[in-house]
Amino acid sequence: MRTVTLIKGDGIGPEISEAVKLIFSRAGVPIQWEEADAGLGAIERTGTGVPQQTLDSIKKNGVALKGPTTTPVGGGHKSVNVTIRKTLELYANVRLARSLPAVPTRYDGVNILVVRENIEDTYAGIEHMQTPNMAQALKIISRQGSMAVIRYAFEEARKLGRKRVTCVHKANIHKLTDGLFLEVFRQVAAEYTDIEANDIIVDNCCMQLVSRPEQFDVLVLPNLYGDIVSDLCAGIVGGLGVAPGGNIGKDCAVFEAVHGSAPDIAGQGLANPTALLISSVQMLQYMGLVGYAEAIMDALLQTFAAGVKTRDLGGSASTLEFAEAVANNVRHVTDEVQPEPVARVVHPAPTVIEEEWTLVGADVFVEWNGSLPTVPQEFGPLVLKNISSRGTTVWPGEQPDIMLVDHYRCRYIGTNVSNAHITGLLNELDSMGVRWCHVEQLNTANGMVRYSASAGE
Ligand code: NAI
Repeated sequence: MRTVTLIKGDGIGPEISEAVKLIFSRAGVPIQWEEADAGLGAIERTGTGVPQQTLDSIKKNGVALKGPTTTPVGGGHKSVNVTIRKTLELYANVRLARSLPAVPTRYDGVNILVVRENIEDTYAGIEHMQTPNMAQALKIISRQGSMAVIRYAFEEARKLGRKRVTCVHKANIHKLTDGLFLEVFRQVAAEYTDIEANDIIVDNCCMQLVSRPEQFDVLVLPNLYGDIVSDLCAGIVGGLGVAPGGNIGKDCAVFEAVHGSAPDIAGQGLANPTALLISSVQMLQYMGLVGYAEAIMDALLQTFAAGVKTRDLGGSASTLEFAEAVANNVRHVTDEVQPEPVARVVHPAPTVIEEEWTLVGADVFVEWNGSLPTVPQEFGPLVLKNISSRGTTVWPGEQPDIMLVDHYRCRYIGTNVSNAHITGLLNELDSMGVRWCHVEQLNTANGMVRYSASAGE
């Protein structure tokens, strides 16, 4: 018997959690629940949205099912979901987009597993105003972070008998960041010869998803594209109301519906428990209790086929009536093989490459109002090669007829460059009254540039 942490959450959370508990108990799923507090209720009771006891319970049990939690507006409380995701390092967000007979949509036969990187990318939240008129967000993609989520996608594909994993990216534009994600994908894919691997550019992927979604099996994506594409997939199968999800980490996983706490219908028996129930099916698959997962999913589909639905799907069943109907349809699971205590993806140590880097220059970003910033042409070994604004070269060459902003990148390249030369250049800019707002080292490795090229180089 395994123990699973249950966070009932706020609003409709307790009602839909009870529905799942009822179905699990009738199906004889060999788990016991350990209830833990989180959300608005927890703030009122304990002063914190995610009490340490709750985090400890998830860490101890390795698996949690979470009802939706209300995020207080204002008041300075961090989102419960973000706190749980960051504290437990839940690096993969997994959402199943599967056509349900109860939810008529334009598409049939869709069954896509979307695996989204959950920590990095622009979601690292590293943003700055560089000038009063220019904002910057850093897109952070690490080899190790990419490897963890991509390996998870392949492991899931193998475990669930899926045939193909597709990497979704924009490496034609983001050559280094998405390029690294794609490079790692190809490297990991080579280890899984039983699973087909291909890649697609994110814009084409979106177009294909709305024209022929049934062609996709497992998608793996960096965080931002994953956020957008997973909602697109949810829309394809009928919206967020029936969309399940899970957040997977190295040592634990938290499964939850995509929808919120629906305060407008809380406590009235109107909530649809489907999304949390399918999340719990994903959880059982994660735990290796695949027979129970299939039995519950089949019972859900049978219930819909019999026309039993909650009000949001055009039916009249209450939350409890619907849960009873599903529970009555669950077949007895006899051949379940007891899984290992915690079925987790085994992560071999990520490949970390080492390169000897040579410092060859710096990109210095300056605030400047006017057509061309007045900056030194040379400083020690550093020679000014290019000035660009919003990615368009404004020097050398003829000045393009573009809208100018107050933010320019000055690229200096040289030989035998040291950090002292770069700091000297920054001091020189200071003494000239030119405000620099950001600086990046430029490096090469065995003659290969480790930065994006600019026009004219
Ligand atoms: P919501 O998803 O709670 O509700 C949107 C609409 O969908 C409402 O009309 C609601 O009645 C309906 N709805 C949602 N789930 C339903 C279900 N299972 N059965 C029937 N109808 C359902 O989104 P909203 O109103 O924007 O957010 C309410 C609260 O939930 C906010 O505090 C928000 O921050 C929080 N939230 C929490 C999430 C989580 O814990 N994972 C995710 C999204 C929102």
